[in-house]
Amino acid sequence: MTNYQFPEGFLWGGATAANQVEGAYLEDGKGMNLADVMPGGKVRLNVISKPGFDFKIDTKKYTTYPNHEAIDFYHRYADDIALFAELGFKTYRMSIAWSRIFPKGDELEPNEEGLAFYDRVFDECLKHGIEPVVTISHYEMPLYLITEYGGWRNREVISFFERYAITLFNRYKDKVKYWLTFNEINGATHLPIMSLGFSPATEDVRLQESFQGLHHQFVASSLAVKACHEIIPGSQIGCMLIYMPVYAYDCNPQNVLHAMKEEQVFNYICGDVHVRGEYPAFSKRFFKENDININMEDGDLETLKQYPVDFISLSYYMSRTEKKELTKEEKASGNLIAGVKNPHLKASDWGWEIDPTGLRIGLNQLYDRYRVPLFVVENGLGAYDTVEEDGSINDDYRINYLREHIKAMGEAIEDGVELMGYTAWGCIDLVSMSTGEMSKRYGFIYVDKQDDGSGTLERKKKKSFYWYQNVIATNGKEL
Ligand code: BG6
Repeated sequence: MTNYQFPEGFLWGGATAANQVEGAYLEDGKGMNLADVMPGGKVRLNVISKPGFDFKIDTKKYTTYPNHEAIDFYHRYADDIALFAELGFKTYRMSIAWSRIFPKGDELEPNEEGLAFYDRVFDECLKHGIEPVVTISHYEMPLYLITEYGGWRNREVISFFERYAITLFNRYKDKVKYWLTFNEINGATHLPIMSLGFSPATEDVRLQESFQGLHHQFVASSLAVKACHEIIPGSQIGCMLIYMPVYAYDCNPQNVLHAMKEEQVFNYICGDVHVRGEYPAFSKRFFKENDININMEDGDLETLKQYPVDFISLSYYMSRTEKKELTKEEKASGNLIAGVKNPHLKASDWGWEIDPTGLRIGLNQLYDRYRVPLFVVENGLGAYDTVEEDGSINDDYRINYLREHIKAMGEAIEDGVELMGYTAWGCIDLVSMSTGEMSKRYGFIYVDKQDDGSGTLERKKKKSFYWYQNVIATNGKEL
């Protein structure tokens, strides 16, 4: 028994994204999207982190496209949601594939079959008493908007997104109360391909183009907040940040200053615009020193100010340690974003540094700065699982990881942080975003699908399934 006091009604659950689970990539009128052209395997890391990707399927160069079938949630959603209900989920965070609703992205009328699919999914959740939390855009921009419009570089995309969001709010107003706008919006400058739907031609233009794209997303997000509140009284809509608290490598003031600046630019520009409704003071100098000139239209700043989000949702996987001058050897290998290896932390098999205390620190920092409710909508351990001869999957490493992170949330609540809920990432095994692998598993539910695309898609409960079920049943008292 722990003494942690998770609030009554705490939203325990799990999280996925449409492109990583649904499959059925061309069914019922769905258009191609970004994830459909992403190859499988570690090669994907190069594709998403280097300039010059051409957004085409190339079967000569790449052997698999795992998101095409994913784990076939599109046809198996009812059984999967029944398993979530058995886990005791109070909530399920999921996303809608934009290209199921607007196959190209710029149409005037939505695709009814796409809308009907999510009606079925929400009905199934509600039948089991599971509250859906819906991300409007999670790394799955319609491909046509990328190839024909240049992604979020193009201001026109704001109105397409607005139409899409309004369509969702009108259609699902009686079923969905919690919404998130853009997944991990602050990751955009590092991964513009995933977040903004374009590949900068060179490194030199990456920051300029990314901040321009981000500005468009900020305006689009504010317009979505406005529409959500107007259309769905009592709804709550949040932003979504990839939150990595930044540590200085040591007490050398140069390193501390460097870490502070990284924290400001990476974590706070997006948070400030979303919650305070304005670009922070430090951004002026940062933009000037980096030759970033954002094209804004009259009224943009007023829109940002008028429609701030209701809460901040975040993903938390790791902290980040910064040093002003670092050698190549010192770079933390797995961290997609940057940083130097932290000598005090162990890392996952993918090199992601494991730091539960960082979650407590991060929640405190965010709450101190913004004073709005927080919601951890992603956290988990990507790990290799083994199915034993008797069919069991003994994932104690995952249980240990999650236990420590849940304790860190308990401590943060004790520190005074207002926390709405926790949805463990990849509650059912799914396609990895950064590597397109199936073998990087996060789930409480195992899916028989392998990296080469083989497998029966059968679902099996792991040891962590029963553990998490009890965590939820005891509201975090038994960990
Ligand atoms: C987050 C994304 O960055 O991390 C998810 O929102 C992603 O889409 C998750 O799956 C874990 O990353 P990966 O690369 O292990 O799938």
